[in-house]
Amino acid sequence: MKAIVVSDQSAGRAGLRMAERPQPSASINDVIVQVHASGFVPTEVEWSSTWTDRAGRDRTPSIIGHEVAGVVTALGYGTTGLTVGQRVFGLADWHRDGTLAEYVAMEARNLAPLPGDVPFTVGASLPISGLTAWQGLFIHGRIQSGQSLLVHGAAGAVGTMVTQLAREAGAYVIGTGRTADRQKALDFGAHEFVDLANDTLREIGGVDLVFDVIGGDIQKQSAALIRPGGTLVSITGPVEARPADGLAVDFVVESDRAQLVEIVQRIRDGRLRTNIGNIGEFDDALNALNPAARRNGKTIIQVRE
Ligand SMILES: NC(=O)c1ccc[n+]([C@@H]2O[C@H](COP(=O)([O-])OP(=O)(O)OC[C@H]3O[C@@H](n4cnc5c(N)ncnc54)[C@H](OP(=O)(O)O)[C@@H]3O)[C@@H](O)[C@H]2O)c1
Repeated sequence: MKAIVVSDQSAGRAGLRMAERPQPSASINDVIVQVHASGFVPTEVEWSSTWTDRAGRDRTPSIIGHEVAGVVTALGYGTTGLTVGQRVFGLADWHRDGTLAEYVAMEARNLAPLPGDVPFTVGASLPISGLTAWQGLFIHGRIQSGQSLLVHGAAGAVGTMVTQLAREAGAYVIGTGRTADRQKALDFGAHEFVDLANDTLREIGGVDLVFDVIGGDIQKQSAALIRPGGTLVSITGPVEARPADGLAVDFVVESDRAQLVEIVQRIRDGRLRTNIGNIGEFDDALNALNPAARRNGKTIIQVRE
């Protein structure tokens, strides 16, 4: 089968190439998914899990991409809960071959049913940004109605999901980003927007929750704004600053079927809109994944119709 692989860590994104790889086979509790659409996170080539398995052994050439929407074509030994022919979407294991391929083997528990009225391209855009937003807000940040939230990168893939879910939960949402991001952040539901290049974060006063996707100095300034009892949630690695009287949490998104079901239900009934910047064809994937072709929002590769 055809797949997008990396084998040279020092080459970074320039090392992506199309290669012929063996069809995957299904292990215990796996399914094989025929990939229709795949999502890619630009920072994947920086993650150690792209290069090694869980025992730290070199696993190159590694197939990249971790978000998938497709159709189940085979079940491994003992697999329950999904059937051959079913439309599914989900998040592939970080340490296994990924989804920028014609087929992927992954554990059934990492997948949820994809309703027939949700396009594969939309399904593939949801797992990382949707689950990250859900877990950051509701599991780690424990947001409550009436609380205020500062969400950085509010026009980005994660930020737009955070904004919409937080609004639905009854929070007051202050989005941030670049000057050009203002209208998009407001369109996705932010009550206010702070232009990080020209406005001053300090002027927004206190907030109950900060959802940080940027880190560094922005994170340090934000931690100082958190009210007593509030929380800083970071998805950029170990926190660099802590609120004086509150919690600081950093996490890596995990797959969760029940949360995927909640997210896709919101897509169907219009409570949630996905943020796709660019859809590329599989044969042209290397161009579509080139940083020069990037548009704000998720890059999705359509592997088959
Ligand atoms: N821990 C986890 O589980 C997890 C999960 C998902 C994502 N992540 C990480 O979280 C980060 C965001 O992911 P994403 O998919 O939402 O990325 P994204 O779609 O690129 O969104 C990030 C947004 O923040 C903006 N931004 C970045 N730096 C900025 C700065 N200094 N000032 C103003 N705006 C800035 C970006 O603008 P530009 O596009 O103009 O730069 C973009 O609009 C990435 O580093 C990703 O790897 C972690």
